[in-house]
Amino acid sequence: MNIQRTAIYPGTFDPVTFGHLDIMRRAVSLCDRLIVAVALNPKKNPLFGVQERVGFIKESVHDLQGIEVLPFDTLLTGFAELHNANIILKGLRAVSDFEYELQMGLMNRNLNDSLETVFMIPSQEYSFLSSSFVKEIAKHGGDVSKMVPPCVQEGLSKIS
Ligand code: COA
Repeated sequence: MNIQRTAIYPGTFDPVTFGHLDIMRRAVSLCDRLIVAVALNPKKNPLFGVQERVGFIKESVHDLQGIEVLPFDTLLTGFAELHNANIILKGLRAVSDFEYELQMGLMNRNLNDSLETVFMIPSQEYSFLSSSFVKEIAKHGGDVSKMVPPCVQEGLSKIS
């Protein structure tokens, strides 16, 4: 039986970093279809609007096949059901991410038992990265060229 594997990689991506992109590049080879789900997530008070965040990712993955980038503002499990996804993909950078991710994974399983959460590890060189750090460094005029793609660098330079 040939089961279509559709994975959802959700996040706020405010903004996308080389760490996120590393996960996306690794993930496309593991599934038939990868949907990067960009959460509106107003509680995080994002610096960039959701369409801008979607645009940064689209521009950064234009060379990859089998990947879609979509905004969402619903429960993740509902979004996954809507797109017939069977996998939720999350990145684990360090042990400190684990407790929160485990809690979220179990809660999502509670909401939909047929969805599997799969954790992936980014390259070691990106394991220290976070979107908040990037924003803080850019705000103070620091160099973020090794952390984010050129389109994000440009977006950050307009704001900071
Ligand atoms: N490289 C670099 N940074 C990474 C990373 C990687 N590979 N993986 C995670 N991060 C960082 C992000 O940059 C972000 O950093 P920041 O806090 O400095 O901004 C942080 O890790 C994780 O943030 P975020 O992308 O917001 O993910 P999250 O784990 O908090 O979950 C959603 C966000 C959208 C997936 C989650 O809130 C959700 O599912 N919302 C929908 C509503 C819902 O279903 N709620 C019930 C959940 S049980």
